Amino acid sequence: MTNRTRLHISDEAIQHANETAKRIREQYGAGKRYIVESYGCQMNAHDSERLRGMLEIMGYAPTDNKNEADFIIFNTCCVREHAEKRVFGNVGALKKLKDEKPSLIVGVCGCMMQQKAVSDRLYKRFPFVDLIFGTNELHEFPQMFEKVLMGERIKRVQDLEGEIPEGLPASRTSTLSTNVVVMYGCDNFCSYCIVPYVRGRERSREISDIIDEVKQLAKQGYKEITLLGQNVNSYKSADGHDFADILYALNDCEGIRRIRFMTSHPKDLSEKLIDAMTNLDHVCNHIHLPVQSGSDRILKLMNRKYTSAHYMHLVDELRKRVKDIEITTDIIVGFPTETDEDFEATLDIVKRAEFSAAFTFKYSPRTGTAAAKMDGQIAEAVKKQRLKILNECCAEATKKSNEKYIGTIGEVFVEGMDARDIPLGYGRLGNFKTVYFPTDRDLTGQFVNVKITGIKNSSLFGELI
Ligand code: SAH
Ligand code: SF4
Ligand code: F3S
Repeated sequence: MTNRTRLHISDEAIQHANETAKRIREQYGAGKRYIVESYGCQMNAHDSERLRGMLEIMGYAPTDNKNEADFIIFNTCCVREHAEKRVFGNVGALKKLKDEKPSLIVGVCGCMMQQKAVSDRLYKRFPFVDLIFGTNELHEFPQMFEKVLMGERIKRVQDLEGEIPEGLPASRTSTLSTNVVVMYGCDNFCSYCIVPYVRGRERSREISDIIDEVKQLAKQGYKEITLLGQNVNSYKSADGHDFADILYALNDCEGIRRIRFMTSHPKDLSEKLIDAMTNLDHVCNHIHLPVQSGSDRILKLMNRKYTSAHYMHLVDELRKRVKDIEITTDIIVGFPTETDEDFEATLDIVKRAEFSAAFTFKYSPRTGTAAAKMDGQIAEAVKKQRLKILNECCAEATKKSNEKYIGTIGEVFVEGMDARDIPLGYGRLGNFKTVYFPTDRDLTGQFVNVKITGIKNSSLFGELI
């Protein structure tokens, strides 16, 4: 434990959490079952792994069956509006279960709860919800849970000081590939986005803590890690390391064959990072680089701080220097005041950048963000129509990007078996393309060479060699 900054949650507080968890195991944990449901991004999923880790120390075991669960918690997201409706619906649906089994504990946590108006509303509307907390209280979960077990009802949503927890357990969902958070929060304030308000200010873990965690994971048998942050390339440690330094430090970590990272912001994508991607053999040739729009006027209103020309310059550099790189992206349609011409510019950049895959969204106004107050909100029908056209355009780009691989041989890290028709193995190339191939043997967890022979929906198809 070196280089602790004032941003770090104290070792004593973490120890207290772990000790409370052990006490719960002795007093309450025997035979108990839990469900943690995640609604958000990988950061949200990782927080859920931390919750599971703490629950398992408490003696609780996972279940998929709501009827046998003693504790159900929803880890929420609020990046788009529909998420809210879904969570309120799913929480409401638990009332019947709680009436039948009053000992059931119901919790709601995560980004949506960090919006105080929303957590207040949920608290009032559903008196049977026992536990509500935000994104900054994860390390206090055992203490809050213990109080709930003793009959209290708890809602704890603090203002975001922006802290770094080290040393919380995690129960990871995959045994092959996993996420490692390198930084928390976001300072970019893209005008449409709620994340900076619910995740707080940017703060970076110490590079030594990241290396220790990855070494530990390698020892457990993980072969692939994804370094996570809302904007990984603005990583800056207290002792002056940047994101590329993490890649250099991890490239030699024994056992780790693939290093991925997300998400990268185009405004901060440095030469040094492109160099690292070019030079380091374990860093994957894939980048998720959200463009959001192809129109400079809209990009400015979005507060993205780059132009479409700069974005295309990055794409060209990446393609020139990183062998067989694939680029994926996020795009929003129907941002306030977006005209047909702006939208055309987005279609244009999709064609020029030849994205391998794109996550596309209709703009969704979020209370408290700058864009929600802008004039010129776009009608739902227009957004819908644009999304449809954009998706067709992206599917075309994916197809084009996939066709390049027919006849090539690639290394696939096998993630599992798909037995719907004939038994197929599936996994990814370094550049994130999914490949299916027929095999009778379950090769999960192995690296195999596959000759690409065709396309299967938005993925590749091939045969083992
Ligand atoms: N930090 C990451 C991820 C942010 S959320 C990044 O900057 O890329 C993931 C995606 O959700 C964003 O890239 C954006 O495309 C989309 N998104 C965020 N807020 C949105 C909103 N209000 N409406 C629609 N899409 C949104
Ligand atoms: Fe949101 Fe922008 Fe931060 Fe991404 S970079 S989380 S889109 S504010
Ligand atoms: Fe992630 Fe949603 Fe929060 S995208 S950071 S879980 S608002």
